[in-house]
Amino acid sequence: MNKDLRNAVIAGNWKMNKTPAETTALINEMKPLVADADCKVVLCVPFVDIAAAVEAAKGSNIEIGAENVHFKASGAYTGEISADMLVASGVKYVVIGHSERRQYFGETDQTVNLRTLAAVNAGLTAIVCVGETLEQRELGYTETLLKYQTKMALTNLTKEQLKNIIIAYEPVWAIGTGVTATAEQADEGNGYVREAIAEVYGKDVAETVTIQYGGSMNPKNADELVAKVNVDGGLIGGASLKAEDFAVIVKAASK
Ligand code: 13P
Repeated sequence: MNKDLRNAVIAGNWKMNKTPAETTALINEMKPLVADADCKVVLCVPFVDIAAAVEAAKGSNIEIGAENVHFKASGAYTGEISADMLVASGVKYVVIGHSERRQYFGETDQTVNLRTLAAVNAGLTAIVCVGETLEQRELGYTETLLKYQTKMALTNLTKEQLKNIIIAYEPVWAIGTGVTATAEQADEGNGYVREAIAEVYGKDVAETVTIQYGGSMNPKNADELVAKVNVDGGLIGGASLKAEDFAVIVKAASK
């Protein structure tokens, strides 16, 4: 295991929060606080906030991401946004297959795979989310499920394309609940994801893939989580809406 082989990435996922004006204000507040980060800093924002976010982040070390992308290049898909549209708007990253999308919007392992292919083919870095529910964990399916979700999401991706893939292990029971996975559980879950990648692409490739943990990561628990060998940063919900909290997490990943 060698953590030096991969980038630590702290990404905020703002979910359905913030107007464009609030986006500008929050990024302006964050910029000086994360300026000396020794990890990648990304903010994934609602579509309507992208223009404001890209503008506010100009000249800083903050990169902007979206929270979803459609898998078709263009056409009659009312309400959807293509990967090329995101690229043209200055977006570099996109969250795909978040559990909220799987739970509320009919996202499946197949559509996650199609979106991932579309994103990577357009030059975006995909932050692909996987994670088990509490029921699945209690039934003993965590490893099987994480490996299945990971392999399904990466179907038809080449070794070369994995350079533009980040996987976020987000146990569904830890999202927005205040219940964080222990550092050991996070490391174990991320380890299953890395094993799944190794089973398909080989161990050397798997060692280079950034695997984040997400689920109630906050300024208090970030240090312990990101210190784990398999945890290469985090995908942060609630705490990414507060500049100071987010900055503390960025600092933890910069050590
Ligand atoms: P919270 O940090 O609010 O638990 O959300 C995690 C998450 O879902 C990030 O994508």
